Amino acid sequence: MTEIISTAVPGPAAPEPGEAEPAGPGPVPGEAGVTPRPRPAAQQPDWPDRAVLRAVTEELAALPGLVLAEECDRLTDRLAAVARGEAVLLQGGDCAETFDGVTEEHVRGTFGTLAEMRDLIAEGARLPVVRLGRIAGQYAKPRSSPQETRSGETLPAYRGDLVNGLAFTPRSRTPDARRLHLGYRVSATTLNLLRALAARQDGEFWTSHEALVLEYERALTRATPSGVYNLSAHLVWVGERTRQLDGAHLDFVAGIRNPVAVKLGPTTTADEALTIVDQLDPDRTPGRLTFISRMGADAVRDRLPELVSKVEAAGAQVVWMCDPMHGNTFVMPSGYKTRDLDRIVDEVRGFFEVHAGLGTHPGGLHVEMTGEPVTECLGGTRPVTPEDVPSRYETACDPRLNRSQSLDLARVVAGLHANQPPSRR
Ligand code: PEP
Ligand code: CO
Repeated sequence: MTEIISTAVPGPAAPEPGEAEPAGPGPVPGEAGVTPRPRPAAQQPDWPDRAVLRAVTEELAALPGLVLAEECDRLTDRLAAVARGEAVLLQGGDCAETFDGVTEEHVRGTFGTLAEMRDLIAEGARLPVVRLGRIAGQYAKPRSSPQETRSGETLPAYRGDLVNGLAFTPRSRTPDARRLHLGYRVSATTLNLLRALAARQDGEFWTSHEALVLEYERALTRATPSGVYNLSAHLVWVGERTRQLDGAHLDFVAGIRNPVAVKLGPTTTADEALTIVDQLDPDRTPGRLTFISRMGADAVRDRLPELVSKVEAAGAQVVWMCDPMHGNTFVMPSGYKTRDLDRIVDEVRGFFEVHAGLGTHPGGLHVEMTGEPVTECLGGTRPVTPEDVPSRYETACDPRLNRSQSLDLARVVAGLHANQPPSRR
């Protein structure tokens, strides 16, 4: 692992793990202090040294934001076009970026593959495609279990490079708040390259990640002349495991002006979706809110229609996006976690069918992918077989589509757009 650089300066203690988080986007310079109701925060690291955490977040709070508030506003405008049915959104990148994985080759691979996918989808949809990377900050992972046991040894689960290391040793798995600082720096390095690539191509490219580790997100949240923004990325989303209606994550994104997204899994009720709309998009601003459904191929046709129809009836102009990855993960007998491209395609087809039935716009596609020839997901026109999987299984978390599989999927999506009846909005 890259050496972590930051010095600990003792300061007042941050809240202890398990304590409720302060509500809202956190202390914002220049804002009058109101003491809001504390909210429970799921999936937060158990930081062993609160003084280091405090020192690092203070350092981060003094550094420049990674993006500009006006860029976030411009992305909201672009997403408003998607919400109106005049554009399409493509969001993709690693499940979990790693600090060591940020090489020029890797970033170029993701950027280039998303560009190829964009070209295919734009041609089929005959609409502009907004490109949003899961990149330059996608370093934190929610986990189904806080611990992992291997050969009788139990250690904290890997929560992403922002928190701890993937290597299964006590030292590596202990959360280290100095990683927040390194995450900022590696994000800045990535963003620098992305900006250069996008400028050369004369195109727009936006960044996003899951807003999970609230200390990090709050440290990069700033009061600007146009309001409070999280300047760690253009868009941040709240994941399936942290979207509790009374939880700290939805409360945090409610307080920022960035465009935001929320994952909706198969257990989501229409009332929950409506409450999220009221919390995050009370003014019904097109482009403000994206719902990323991740139902699984078996559930999407059954679960999604009610959510879409009730949210639309409530007057919200959200972007509807399909994440066909997270509801279709399974473990092979060999022990590898994988996904089959056929199931992924089936969920995307179901998503388009639901929107065709309701006259709404199948606005976006959210994928875990890489430009590299990994063998993490099964299938494709250059098929990855179960026997191939171990040869290049490199993800730090969930299995990603390789370049060829990503282009296969983009061709399918292009065809679905080309045959989709026009949306009524
Ligand atoms: C993810 O996007 O990597 C993720 C954890 O997804 P979800 O919140 O949908 O489970
Ligand atoms: Co994932």
